[in-house]
Amino acid sequence: IGSSVGLLVAYLLGSTPTGYLAGKLVRGIDIREHGSKSTGATNVLRTLGKWPALFVLVADVMKGVAAIVFAQSWYPWLLTRYSVVWPKEFEIPSLVPWLVCLSGLAVLLGHGRSIWLQFTGGKSAATGLGVLLAISLPVGIGTAAVWGVVLAISRIVSFSSILAALTAIVLVFCFEHPMPYRLLVVAGGLYVIVRHRANIQRLLAGAEPRLGQNSSGSK
Ligand code: G3P
Repeated sequence: IGSSVGLLVAYLLGSTPTGYLAGKLVRGIDIREHGSKSTGATNVLRTLGKWPALFVLVADVMKGVAAIVFAQSWYPWLLTRYSVVWPKEFEIPSLVPWLVCLSGLAVLLGHGRSIWLQFTGGKSAATGLGVLLAISLPVGIGTAAVWGVVLAISRIVSFSSILAALTAIVLVFCFEHPMPYRLLVVAGGLYVIVRHRANIQRLLAGAEPRLGQNSSGSK
């Protein structure tokens, strides 16, 4: 039960519909009916402007950070408290990274498929960055740097997010990290890329809007 609580907290954190709330509060609209239909900061930027977008970006990154920070303290506490149920030779610390890995996936899933938004949501790039920063500062910073450079050159956010997700997958193998963290980054990175599939189709068709242009729309 305790480990399900950890996962539920992560999923609910991810589900917090920051972009949707920004749409309702700033202009009384459902952001999912505008632009790319995503609740992420990029669609908030094109639909509501830069300050709401900045707020949503920071809040979405923090959801990822919070889920990992919570998992990293909740599971050790839980496993130590109930260690009486484990056989003596069972190593509690080795379980923690696996549970943190599941929490990381749960927060990404929550952002992409929010329980409050009929299982719609964003593309989990900002929340994924928060997860990365919390599990590995160098991987998080390296990924954010690649995202920023690609964005500055291409002016296409989705293209930058996809390349950043691939970068994270490569970078996590360049540093010393437990296997569950590596799997989290691989699975999370692939999830972010899959969530961008409509963007990928538009990129291939040369129809993906650059910053400042309007979007043709996708789920
Ligand atoms: O993080 C989402 C971004 O990469 C693309 O957003 O609204 O252009 O589909 P959007």
